[in-house]
Amino acid sequence: MKSLTFIDLFCGCGGFTLGLEHAGLKCLAAIDFNEEAIAVFKKNLSHVPQVLKSDVTKFTPSELAKLIGTDRIDVVVGGPPCQGFSTVRQADGANHGKRLVEDARRFLYQDFIRYVAFFKPRVFVMENVLGIRSASGGEYFTRVQKEARAAGYRVHAQVEDCVELGLPQKRRRQLFIGTRLDLPDYFHPEIKPAPRACVHPTLWEAIGDLPALKAGEGEETCDYDTVRRKAHVEKYGRRYLYSVLQISRAGKLTAHRARPHSDRDLRDFALLKEGENSKEAMDRGVEFEFPYDKKTFKDRYTRQHRSEACSTIVAHLSKDGLMFIHPTQNRSLTPREAARIQSFPDWFEFPIARTHQFRVIGNAVPPLISEAIGIAVKNHIEKTMKKSKQVKFFIQPLPSGEKQAVQWLMELVQAADSKALRKLPSDTFKRGWFSVGFLYPGLHPDSAIDHGTEMSNEVVNHSEIRKIEPRLLAPYYVESGWPVVLAPVAREAWRRYEASELNDDEFYCSEAVVAGMCDRNPTLVDEVKREREKAFA
Ligand SMILES: C[S@@+](CC[C@H](N)C(=O)[O-])C[C@H]1O[C@@H](n2cnc3c(N)ncnc32)[C@H](O)[C@@H]1O
Repeated sequence: MKSLTFIDLFCGCGGFTLGLEHAGLKCLAAIDFNEEAIAVFKKNLSHVPQVLKSDVTKFTPSELAKLIGTDRIDVVVGGPPCQGFSTVRQADGANHGKRLVEDARRFLYQDFIRYVAFFKPRVFVMENVLGIRSASGGEYFTRVQKEARAAGYRVHAQVEDCVELGLPQKRRRQLFIGTRLDLPDYFHPEIKPAPRACVHPTLWEAIGDLPALKAGEGEETCDYDTVRRKAHVEKYGRRYLYSVLQISRAGKLTAHRARPHSDRDLRDFALLKEGENSKEAMDRGVEFEFPYDKKTFKDRYTRQHRSEACSTIVAHLSKDGLMFIHPTQNRSLTPREAARIQSFPDWFEFPIARTHQFRVIGNAVPPLISEAIGIAVKNHIEKTMKKSKQVKFFIQPLPSGEKQAVQWLMELVQAADSKALRKLPSDTFKRGWFSVGFLYPGLHPDSAIDHGTEMSNEVVNHSEIRKIEPRLLAPYYVESGWPVVLAPVAREAWRRYEASELNDDEFYCSEAVVAGMCDRNPTLVDEVKREREKAFA
């Protein structure tokens, strides 16, 4: 099957795209108006045909369609900026009330939906922070879904817990997943860890092999410490380093440069135990040099713990690293460490200034998570593609295959006599009767009663039936072809037909006959579809 295609809106440095490509999807275009994000995207994902530094609010979907040479895309993904919804802002009251309306970034989801409405992908996935659920009393959460439904999508909102998907980071995100209304089946996205993910890796598994640094130390490009790596792998295993970070594909170590800190901050850092924040430290009597207002008691510093998941890597890391102090070294995390905690492979480079590195890394969908999302989307689309290849039938229920048809039919056969058959509920009788059509395309209901007397025991090859119930094959009446065991069933069908309990379509059930033929010979499906299109044109 050809790869499914997608476009990535508000693509940042390419976290979403990278994971989807690992899942086997193909990116046709990506758009972001941020210069540094686009520079990183192009450096690492240079095969993507269109990587545009453009404003999504101004660039039109038809312009994009022209550039990529198609207006047919399987999937649209994107992470409209989330600052407007972020719960971080709730503390100062800005996530609701007047200022909410002023933040134009909150409406960028509408541009996302505009692209969805134009390209009509089979599936869309929009990623956002959890804060969107509560922003303005849930108004935006509702609006995203309502407006996507109006564009012709069945929408589902789902929270993903990245720890459960193999990220060494506490990160929970809101996904909005839409499936086009004309496609069969609901998408219940059971997003499972990507096959190469490890179960609950710790922060140390992701960064413990990296060369030790002091605050302000490090080069943009340097060598790995192979001795340290060897010791690390012996103790913690290879999985995160080799499968997720793909370190063997990276010749040199990049972006492992620690930011400088003031001497006062460094002395304060040194007072923190592993896994502790400044509030907890003060609770046990530690006095920091930083002039804390003891009433508000803000937790200004956090030292991460080696054997736990790291706190959520945020774009704010670009401002300072005080909440991300290294577990054992007296400094904040480097961009490479942040990238590793976000599951970016080591070969993924960030050839931009350090502040921008932190921002694009913190903004990204972790590639390991988008890979898991991509696998779920791909499985779903492939399933629905198979289904929409099937013909739609007008009578229901039809058996899903021969095995079920035999089971349904046996419910009638086992009713033993005409009295018991009469008592069977309509649904049970109908599905059994449709199964007759499904299993025996050559039998005609009209000849079922007038079957003559000559019988034969010669068994026709009908594998499933033979396995499950040989009586359904022989003996049979030679003249009509009806199996003897079905004679009472046919009589009961006639009775119900004459009593108007079965209508013409149900009694003659040619739909069931076609369904059975298509089931045994899938190459018939297209032909039947064409015939029907002609008939209903
Ligand atoms: C949360 S980040 C998306 C990260 C991305 N999904 C990833 O996995 O790397 C949001 C992005 O939207 C971009 N952005 C914000 N407003 C935009 C606009 N009007 N047009 C294009 N990009 C915009 C920002 O530059 C930022 O990179």
